[in-house]
Amino acid sequence: MDVKHQIAPLATLGSLKTEALLLVLSGDDFAQGLDPALGALAKGLVQSGDFEVKPGRSLVLHRPTGVAAARLVFVAAASSGTPKALRAAVVAGLKALKPLGARLAHVAVSAGSRKTGALEGSVGQALATAAAEVAYTYRHTKPSAPAPSRLDRVTLCCEASEAKAVAAGVARGAAIAAGITLAREQANRPGNHATPRHLGEVARKLGRDHDLKVEVLDRKGIEKLGMGAFLAVAQGSEEPPRFIVLRYHGAGGTEPPVVLVGKGITFDTGGISIKPAGEMDEMKFDMSGAASVLGTMRAVAQLKPRVNVVGVIAACENMPDGRAVKPGDVVTTMSGQTVEILNTDAEGRLILCDALTYVERFKPAAVVDIATLTGACVIALGHQHSGLFCTDDALAEQLLAAGDAALDTCWRMPLDEEYGEALKSHFADMGNVGGRAGGAITAACFLRKFTGKYPWAHLDIAGTAWKSGADKGATGRPVGLLTEFVLARAAQEPPRKTAAARPAAKRR
Ligand code: BES
Ligand code: MN
Ligand code: ZN
Repeated sequence: MDVKHQIAPLATLGSLKTEALLLVLSGDDFAQGLDPALGALAKGLVQSGDFEVKPGRSLVLHRPTGVAAARLVFVAAASSGTPKALRAAVVAGLKALKPLGARLAHVAVSAGSRKTGALEGSVGQALATAAAEVAYTYRHTKPSAPAPSRLDRVTLCCEASEAKAVAAGVARGAAIAAGITLAREQANRPGNHATPRHLGEVARKLGRDHDLKVEVLDRKGIEKLGMGAFLAVAQGSEEPPRFIVLRYHGAGGTEPPVVLVGKGITFDTGGISIKPAGEMDEMKFDMSGAASVLGTMRAVAQLKPRVNVVGVIAACENMPDGRAVKPGDVVTTMSGQTVEILNTDAEGRLILCDALTYVERFKPAAVVDIATLTGACVIALGHQHSGLFCTDDALAEQLLAAGDAALDTCWRMPLDEEYGEALKSHFADMGNVGGRAGGAITAACFLRKFTGKYPWAHLDIAGTAWKSGADKGATGRPVGLLTEFVLARAAQEPPRKTAAARPAAKRR
């Protein structure tokens, strides 16, 4: 999907020659400032009861009279005019257009649908991600899926004064969208395709195509590092594990990096503590954290912010087997701390704890791990917000703000020391599970025991990484949040010396 912007004022849209014009309307005064032909058309449709300006409503007209566009789509948005409301309306409108013949659509936002009057970069960004969301179809193991839509170009109409901000937003959105699409595609692939070895190959290709340094360790390499907990999970599978490191260098060599650590369980059976059969297929999505790291590295490599970023992925299967780790087994983690594996289905924290020790070597400015870690997080927060666990308030604020900006939100959860008491073990430094109570929090408490050397946050994406039911499939979350977070870290960096000298010279 190719997204652009074009200077095309609202008052002249009736004469805009295009294959499809998608017009977002809100409120009672929806025709304000609009091209008279379009305004009259919309008013007539509302009067005749054929269209209502209510969020969720859309109407497609073919060859509308008095309008140059070959197709016209009216979509209603909530009058709040937030990027979120606009995004929902554009998704609805593009979905209506997707099966039709148009290859190019122009999108315009009426005056009443603009929160601050002017179109901001955030709207361009929201549009670019919306267009990619609608365009994506999974085909890798289903070539018979509906033919790709002809609609492959979307252009956002703006005023001349808005063009600069909108263009920047569209560029940012397009990079994020490419990252989201990569994450969705990899997470959607079944467990027998998206194996740890495959993830290693995807990372290598990403490195070649986008100038990232990539290192992929096999079982021997992982053994050398002493990752006893990661290896314990991997030992029940015929598929060999992989430990993947991707590096993006946008700032100076000594600048401490932002480190992203993804859970890459390519299939989670639960191991010997095996899961019930119902919906177990969805455990192919248990590498969504890893997929989001790949997607974010892809987006960052395209946007080239002045910041260093390291992406780390621990990838393996969690299988029951004669050699599989058993409940009660005690393993020694890379940190030296021992863990009694009371439940082999709490495997995510076991692979992550060693990855979190490994990343100490980067002397990180911040570490964020991303994992489909607990069913308990889905019970706590449902499918709207990812769970955010963080002991550093400043870092937590940055992640919350990044989520809001990217329309990929998270919600902060508590992390009091007391929750960690549930992890006491008779036979090791800790157990790998607490009780059922506060399961998402005790999981985070487990991870915290390995993160003392740097500012750290944990995102539990168990409820947000994929959808079940009729819309079953990966969402690509939280690539938007993470990319936004990395970009904000770059903007925070003190300006280079030459740039710092400039304001002084400018002073008159
Ligand atoms: N991958 C699962 C978490 C999960 C379950 C995500 C369902 C999304 C939907 C994780 O490895 C797991 O099995 N966690 C256990 C932990 C428990 C044994 C303490 C869980 O949540 O049941
Ligand atoms: Mn599990
Ligand atoms: Zn899991």
